[in-house]
Amino acid sequence: MLNTEAPLPRITTSMQWLNQAEGLIPSATQTLAKGPSQHVRGIAPVFAKRGYGATIVDVDDQEYLDYTMAVGPLSLGYCFPEIDDAIRGQLDNGIVFSLPHHLEVEVATLIRDVVPNVERVRFSKTGADVVSAAVRLARAHTGRSTIVCCGYHGWHDWYIGVTDRHAGIPQSIRDLTFTFAYNDVESVLSAIDDDTAAIVLEPTVVESPENNFLQDLRRICDDRGIILVFDEMWTGFRLALGGAQEYYGVRADLICFSKAIANGMPLSVLCGRADIMDRLEEDVFWFTTFGGETLSLAAAQATIHFMQGHDVIGHLDVVGRRLSGALLELTADLGISWLYTKGYPARTMITYDSNVVDPLIVRSYLQQELLRYAILWNGFFTLSYSHTVADIDRTVAAFMEILPQLAKHVHDGTLRSALEGEPVGPVFRRTGNFNMRPRTVTVEV
Ligand SMILES: Cc1ncc(COP(=O)(O)O)c(C=O)c1O
Repeated sequence: MLNTEAPLPRITTSMQWLNQAEGLIPSATQTLAKGPSQHVRGIAPVFAKRGYGATIVDVDDQEYLDYTMAVGPLSLGYCFPEIDDAIRGQLDNGIVFSLPHHLEVEVATLIRDVVPNVERVRFSKTGADVVSAAVRLARAHTGRSTIVCCGYHGWHDWYIGVTDRHAGIPQSIRDLTFTFAYNDVESVLSAIDDDTAAIVLEPTVVESPENNFLQDLRRICDDRGIILVFDEMWTGFRLALGGAQEYYGVRADLICFSKAIANGMPLSVLCGRADIMDRLEEDVFWFTTFGGETLSLAAAQATIHFMQGHDVIGHLDVVGRRLSGALLELTADLGISWLYTKGYPARTMITYDSNVVDPLIVRSYLQQELLRYAILWNGFFTLSYSHTVADIDRTVAAFMEILPQLAKHVHDGTLRSALEGEPVGPVFRRTGNFNMRPRTVTVEV
């Protein structure tokens, strides 16, 4: 029997928790990408119980190979012994203190050592915290107001106000942010003006930088006194130990990290140029109660040390390339021209030609069918050090069976009816096209 005929998981306990959550916890999640709207309702597990390595166990006690990895933080894996030992060791001595803790200095020093162009370091708890701090510093340093950005940068007003979920954010704030298209220097030049304080971007998401795009941004910033901010929530501690600056050989002025740095503990980092960050000793205010919380700092220290001692980055690259290479080959062999494998090895994603297929229905179908193979997937393959070559091969084998069925459903127009639950909702993630300025610049190439 093909696994495509295998039963879907039992989710009785998950649905009981979901019933209790709905009407109590808006959206039934604190993180959209892991919530019920991103999983096929009625068939996909909703609540987790525990995890180990690259395996997540749901509340119905079923195990899945996990490709979401807590939406990024689990760079090494669930319950990774070296990191958990460091957390336990620190727990015996206290969590937060009435004075700064020496771990703050130790981890700041470590970050300065491994990340290029770091003269100053500050800690916080979330990705949104540190990107917003970078924006405030850039505004203070330049005396300018507008921000141009590309990518997702969290829930704070300066960024989310520019998206279509801007309720609650005054127009005056929304008018200060513009977006540009990745790999499109003309759109950057059209977006900036004399009042631009910062260019903020994820160094790569779907596409790789082409034609020296990042170097061009550096030059534009230098020429016009604009602060270049790299939001490295995803690229940090994945592309290279020193992040995108090291990988692409481009200097940013301010660099933001979180997610992978502490293997699951909540820590974020803003680092970069001394002359900008030293304003935090003067007129820019950014302090927070839990910024120096030590369990997360101990986890970050242990994670970075582990990455220094083991080729984690190389492993992500090897397993990532094995996966994306196999998927590319498979779709080519099957003549599937409307499904693409994109991203970078540590974080491959599947995208679709929306002129041919409904991306949400295809994603739902793939998610549903992968569940029959005990694989939890919601659009991205976020890899960790715990993902093995055997895991990848098992995943590719599943796709070898699923993709021909998918192609047949698309051809026959039966894909929607092949879904046994409610399809996933729109992904809340756009990397451009919000508040874009009309093109005013043409660049000769
Ligand atoms: C690139 C990027 N920036 C910022 C954020 C916001 O981080 P957080 O959710 O920790 O506030 C995210 C979250 O996914 C992200 O992917």
